[in-house]
Amino acid sequence: MALVEIREVDKSFKREAQTVDVYHGLTIDFEQGSYTALMGPSGSGKSTLLNLVAGLDKPTRGTVRVNGAEVSAMTASQLADWRARTIGFVFQSYNLLPVLTARQNVELPLLLTNLRKAERAERTAIALDVVGLADRMDHFPRQLSGGQEQRVAIARAIVADPVLILLDEPTGQLDAKSSEEVLDLMRRLNEEFHKTIMMVTHDARAAAQARRVLHLEKGVLLEREEAVVS
Ligand SMILES: Nc1ncnc2c1ncn2[C@@H]1O[C@H](COP(=O)(O)OP(=O)(O)OP(=O)(O)O)[C@@H](O)[C@H]1O
Ligand SMILES: [Mg+2]
Repeated sequence: MALVEIREVDKSFKREAQTVDVYHGLTIDFEQGSYTALMGPSGSGKSTLLNLVAGLDKPTRGTVRVNGAEVSAMTASQLADWRARTIGFVFQSYNLLPVLTARQNVELPLLLTNLRKAERAERTAIALDVVGLADRMDHFPRQLSGGQEQRVAIARAIVADPVLILLDEPTGQLDAKSSEEVLDLMRRLNEEFHKTIMMVTHDARAAAQARRVLHLEKGVLLEREEAVVS
């Protein structure tokens, strides 16, 4: 069984009289421990695919299974709990809460679990240590660089030890050096911590890190084994 199984998925969005068809009959697997880059033009449905896998959106038809659970059939309250335990999500815009410190931002997902305070603190410290920010725990987002903010967001994504990490253009706002730091970290999370990674990216260098590159175009996924780097 693959970790992520997408079967015969249709997705369309209705806007007033208009319907936007994103996919028709999309079927694909993502294996446990895999590291996949998702590429494709703007509007091709890359973010939509991550949202379907995270249960942030529902397919119009078909099924999405993650780790044996049918995400597409869960209720909203089941989803919130399941997502907190299973998925780490990283966005292009970091999405940190400005009034919370790095430590408090990273601890947030653990507030949805029944871990005690001491254990939450320990896990938070470990996650911040993994991303190399042990010394910035009490800083607020505005006191950090973009690259550091993104690493806090990654610490928040891994703190609950999810099996699957979804990233939507994680290096989109970063300079070359910070991008490299984030990508090195993703490689470690995949190789050392065996996390399954699905990463949407426009960046050929980011895609070169992945072990599988998929191109989404006009609702169809094309596989390219070899990395496309200049
Ligand atoms: N909530 C929504 N309501 C209506 N249409 C939507 C919604 N979300 C996405 N769409 C449409 O679905 C299509 C796919 O959008 P999606 O955001 O997945 O593209 P993308 O590949 O992530 O693009 P980008 O590279 O610009 O981020 C687009 O045509 C978009 O306009
Ligand atoms: Mg997108």
